[in-house]
Amino acid sequence: MAKILVTGGLGFIGSHTVVELQDEGFEVVIIDDLSNSSIDTLERITSITGVQPVFEQIDLKEKNKVIDFFNRHNDVKGVIHFAASKAVGESVEQPLKYYENNINTLVYVLQELQKLETSNFIFSSSCTVYGQADELPITENAPVKMAESPYGNTKQIGEEIIQDSCRVNENFNAIALRYFNPIGAHETANIGELPIGVPQNLVPFITQTAIGIREQLSVFGDDYPTSDGTCIRDYIHVVDLAKAHVVALQRLIGRNNKENYETFNIGTGKGSTVLEVIKSFEKVSGEKLNYKIAERRAGDIIAAYADTSKANNELGWKAELTLDDAMASAWKWEQNIRKVSS
Ligand code: WQD
Repeated sequence: MAKILVTGGLGFIGSHTVVELQDEGFEVVIIDDLSNSSIDTLERITSITGVQPVFEQIDLKEKNKVIDFFNRHNDVKGVIHFAASKAVGESVEQPLKYYENNINTLVYVLQELQKLETSNFIFSSSCTVYGQADELPITENAPVKMAESPYGNTKQIGEEIIQDSCRVNENFNAIALRYFNPIGAHETANIGELPIGVPQNLVPFITQTAIGIREQLSVFGDDYPTSDGTCIRDYIHVVDLAKAHVVALQRLIGRNNKENYETFNIGTGKGSTVLEVIKSFEKVSGEKLNYKIAERRAGDIIAAYADTSKANNELGWKAELTLDDAMASAWKWEQNIRKVSS
């Protein structure tokens, strides 16, 4: 049973990935600083899988603690690195916080990981590296555009740091997964997304509006050059995304990677407009959503969806769940946490 370190393993995507890793028989050790996650998630993971992962509350900015962790766990066979700050707006206000949280920590983890005999590393990257791509669907060869925010820049710089490290160390194997828009929750509704404060992302805003926490959803712009005038994104079910991490890790552990640094788009390949997402929500929930058309949001790109052929053919992974599945699970999760907290 290979031991895998999951940093940020109590977060939204991290927790779903821990579940899938445990289901595949991996031994999981989680590091999380609980800055944007809850310790309850550990029990929630355990209730799904029946196995409690090892948990260490460590702030990866504390380099000595990272060194100490790897000294104690020098049998780690792979690292999936989620731990990072992710609020785009906050990153514009506090760029140095983002560079410290997302870059320093990455360097510390890589320095220690590379001291091990085998070092396999999966990095959370983002479709944000492509900006508004000139061609759709977006392939991995699309040029990386100038980042729109310090957050986006940390993903670009992170990829470069990993790539540079791979160049000089052939025993270091890494895959950067470029996620499109992760949504949804585990089918048990035991784990899901827990945004702090007012959600910035579409789907939690929809479910919070439907449950009565928010009054109304604003649809940001209906005059874009798309079929119904609203922006297009590739919404990927978080469980499918979690499975992509397991497959990527197995590729590295099995030495099936073609190069020691690889990137893959992780999306469904299908673009949906904001209004289509709302319609899907209304269909699966039976709820009428209160929304209005509002001004465009600054910085929004018109359309992004993935060409997934590289992930399908080389990684052997394909999204299986639909937008309706994701919206139904997000709604079930929202109802479940509402029940718990009321
Ligand atoms: C989706 C669509 C909005 C809220 C996010 C991250 C980004 C990246 C990918 C991370 C857009 C519209 C939204 C609302 C709306 N990944 N919308 N009303 O913009 O694609 O970006 O995911 O690495 O960093 O920020 O996702 O969920 O914010 O928006 O109409 O209240 O929904 O305009 O078209 P986005 P989102």
